[in-house]
Amino acid sequence: MTKLLFPGSFDPFTRGHRDIARRAAKICDKLYVAVMHNDAKKHFFAPEDRVMMARESLKGFDNIEVIRHDGLLVDIYKETGCDAVVRGIRSESDFRYEAEMALANRLLEPSYDAVLLPCRDDLSLISSSIVKEVGFYGGDISKMVPAEIVGFVSEELKKGRN
Ligand code: COA
Repeated sequence: MTKLLFPGSFDPFTRGHRDIARRAAKICDKLYVAVMHNDAKKHFFAPEDRVMMARESLKGFDNIEVIRHDGLLVDIYKETGCDAVVRGIRSESDFRYEAEMALANRLLEPSYDAVLLPCRDDLSLISSSIVKEVGFYGGDISKMVPAEIVGFVSEELKKGRN
């Protein structure tokens, strides 16, 4: 049984994230989507809301399970017994960052491996930061996040600005 792990901060979950999850789920038997903490970022949404948004966005995908992990990536990698981590690549700088992360993670856990999926062109400019910026000003984010969470994300961002 092939198991993959798709980690991210998902602050919030976007259509780009869903596309990567959907494609990764096709090439494995089980995909874990792990909602984690990125120390380089200040997260707007609480971890439980980020889990809820990922679950709502991925409803109907039978081989996907959304989990939360607050520690190191290699720990959840070992705990779930995954064969590789999946990450979406938007640009050359993403590739460089992911290569560095993979190297660091492999030093911690020699069995660590990564599958890098190129992002879809039409989604590659939709980042979680752009969603937050547009949403804070009450802009339309319906083409950026999955339909299931548009209402929640819009309301929270509008409240967050006041
Ligand atoms: N299309 C468009 N944009 C995409 C995308 C796609 N397919 N996939 C991702 N993105 C964007 C996201 O929207 C996000 O945008 P943002 O920078 O504005 O937030 C960005 O690319 C990537 O963020 P995300 O996918 O949410 O994940 P992340 O890079 O924040 O996650 C962790 C990083 C959580 C995996 C990493 O910090 C981690 O491993 N943390 C645990 C601690 C640890 O083990 N550290 C490693 C030590 S070596």
